Amino acid sequence: MWTTCSKNRGNTLTSNPSMSNLHGMILVTGATGHVGAEVVARLVALGRPVRAMTRRPAAASVPAEVEVVAGDCDEPASLAKAFEGVEQAFLMTAQPTGSPNLHTVVQVAAAKAAGVKHLVKLSVADGGRHGHELVAAWHQQDEAAVTESGIAHTMLRPGRFMSNTLAWKHMLRRGDTVQVPFSTRRTSAIAPEDIAAVAVAAFTDPPSTSRTLELSGPEALTPEQELAIVGEILGRRLTLVEPTTEQTIDGMARGGMDRELAAKMIEHVLAGDYGADISPVVEQVLGRKPTTFRDWAEKHFKEES
Ligand SMILES: NC(=O)c1ccc[n+]([C@@H]2O[C@H](COP(=O)([O-])OP(=O)(O)OC[C@H]3O[C@@H](n4cnc5c(N)ncnc54)[C@H](OP(=O)(O)O)[C@@H]3O)[C@@H](O)[C@H]2O)c1
Repeated sequence: MWTTCSKNRGNTLTSNPSMSNLHGMILVTGATGHVGAEVVARLVALGRPVRAMTRRPAAASVPAEVEVVAGDCDEPASLAKAFEGVEQAFLMTAQPTGSPNLHTVVQVAAAKAAGVKHLVKLSVADGGRHGHELVAAWHQQDEAAVTESGIAHTMLRPGRFMSNTLAWKHMLRRGDTVQVPFSTRRTSAIAPEDIAAVAVAAFTDPPSTSRTLELSGPEALTPEQELAIVGEILGRRLTLVEPTTEQTIDGMARGGMDRELAAKMIEHVLAGDYGADISPVVEQVLGRKPTTFRDWAEKHFKEES
């Protein structure tokens, strides 16, 4: 399956004939996140041994079969125990773009020390190359920690997540107006569940060489169109308001991003036209079409309303 569907983007090819014999412990970092939680659930459903890493094990809600381990990438020493005895690992970082002290670097160091054989790394579309030069450089460093590690890897490069629209929920509880930046920009958003399904395919059928997979949803929609779909699902007339640039920067700064970098990113996004390409990879790997925004939103917006 992998030979026909995957693209190698010039990364070092790592031949590893023993890849088909990986049935041991799989560590999932970001196990409480949108993608990680789905990776955990899918691996458990397949009966694979899973260890879920979180900073707060007591608060983690995971299936009973899952081993929960404490791990904080801001405290690199805590990762040794998390990676101990692990055969494959799902790596993600929650660091705002541009952050110093890359979490991927400390994760990979722990993986190497533990002798991990295959890494599935959650990156971004095109490895960030379409972004502002500072953003691109940061993502390249982040990916290089994995691609230059000498460990076989599967690099996942998804576009915008459908789950970003969950930020609308708190506004929808207050009324029918939703503030959405870049409202007329088309992007082919992907369901986190589809990214997780591709990650699990990589764990259960590890490729014999390292791979880079560009992932997208099935259609390019604007946030305006997505909000219209949510309105139809909820049976409400919703109004979109585009925030000012300053308000958008405030939002990004609240998420931990440097204000100056946020301003540069916004300027770059508004000047460019990318993110709308449709990738065939999800369908090639999973043998089904990627989830549409309507189907995804039916599940995630209806359940609380
Ligand atoms: N959103 C998008 O449109 C988009 C598009 C392309 C790529 N991406 C990439 O996807 C990733 C986000 O994935 P997601 O949405 O699944 O994440 P998420 O739902 O935001 O979850 C963040 C996860 O990171 C963990 N975490 C936070 N700080 C940590 C630390 N210091 N040490 C260890 N773990 C930590 C959290 O675990 P605990 O709180 O349990 O410790 C949580 O499980 C980012 O790397 C982003 O670049 C996002």
